[in-house]
Amino acid sequence: MIETRVTKILGIKYPVIKGGMVWVSNAELTAAVSNAGGLGVMGVGAMDMRTLNEELDRLQSMTDKPFGISFPLIRPDYEAMIGAALDRGVKIVVTSAGNPAKTHKMLQSAGVVAIHVIANVKMAQKARDLGYHMVVAEGFEAGGHDGKDEITTFALIPQVADAVDIPVIAAGGIADARGMVAAFALGAEGIQMGTRFAATKESPVHENFKQAIINAIDTDTTVTGRRLNDPVRVIKNKLSQEILDAEAAGASPEDILGIIGPDRTHMASIDGDVESGSVMSGQVSGMINEIKSVQEVFDELIPGIEPVINRIKKFINKDTT
Ligand SMILES: Cc1cc2nc3c(=O)[nH]c(=O)nc-3n(C[C@H](O)[C@H](O)[C@H](O)COP(=O)(O)O)c2cc1C
Repeated sequence: MIETRVTKILGIKYPVIKGGMVWVSNAELTAAVSNAGGLGVMGVGAMDMRTLNEELDRLQSMTDKPFGISFPLIRPDYEAMIGAALDRGVKIVVTSAGNPAKTHKMLQSAGVVAIHVIANVKMAQKARDLGYHMVVAEGFEAGGHDGKDEITTFALIPQVADAVDIPVIAAGGIADARGMVAAFALGAEGIQMGTRFAATKESPVHENFKQAIINAIDTDTTVTGRRLNDPVRVIKNKLSQEILDAEAAGASPEDILGIIGPDRTHMASIDGDVESGSVMSGQVSGMINEIKSVQEVFDELIPGIEPVINRIKKFINKDTT
């Protein structure tokens, strides 16, 4: 067991969170992380109300451990979706991709643990001022939609930890015990991983998507969407090249949106078209070389912490005489 404010507030054994991921964070994967002692967070990004209810039924039948639900606030129906989850007794709500002022009253009056995903200090302070219980501070290494300021995890976490007194969960660029210890050294009290959990046996994404992560090396991700003010980290492929070429040629946001079209994440994650679809994945893809079960990820991560700390201790020469 590891005890931080994150584990105490969330009622979990290990301060390890699986982020909400569109098409990825379904009931199975979420339950597997919660059952392993972390916090599984189901992502409603691509769900309609019916799917949300069905997935919640399945999730509640698969775990009696704490879990969270993540809602992107850019969705026009976020209020109805959150309301439905609260009616179903969901106790931990994560909000992302939008203004936390839209939801804080609703979450406060429901008495749930409220977590907001941020990518800079100002957003963290805003979430804190609105009464959010903790923030996920996500650096630019992360897979999927990233902050416009492009602040990396290594620089972001200490600045956020200095600026707010609520617990900080580090996300972006963490895939093993070394990253976890580093996040703690920087001031975090928990970690959130996305890409590592997307490439697990329980992950529902297409085998091609998982293999794209396994095959990737350090230089294989890129960021598209800067011209749309919506940077997205993906594995390089035909689609990302087309978007980057259009951006470099000065294409208008409308033209770029035309290239992207409506279903690129479904195309990659579910249909398995990893050339024309959007393969959202983080810079840690290069260090993920095997599809493991969620339990195996925890079995390496948690016992791996002490050797990392001992290695660091060896560098510190106590005898300076
Ligand atoms: C395939 C994929 C889909 C994602 N979808 C979402 C999402 O719908 N909502 C969200 O808040 N974050 C989303 N994320 C971000 C993750 O929740 C998490 O914060 C991030 O992956 C952490 O960085 P890492 O990829 O380096 O582990 C997604 C990430 C990936 C890889």
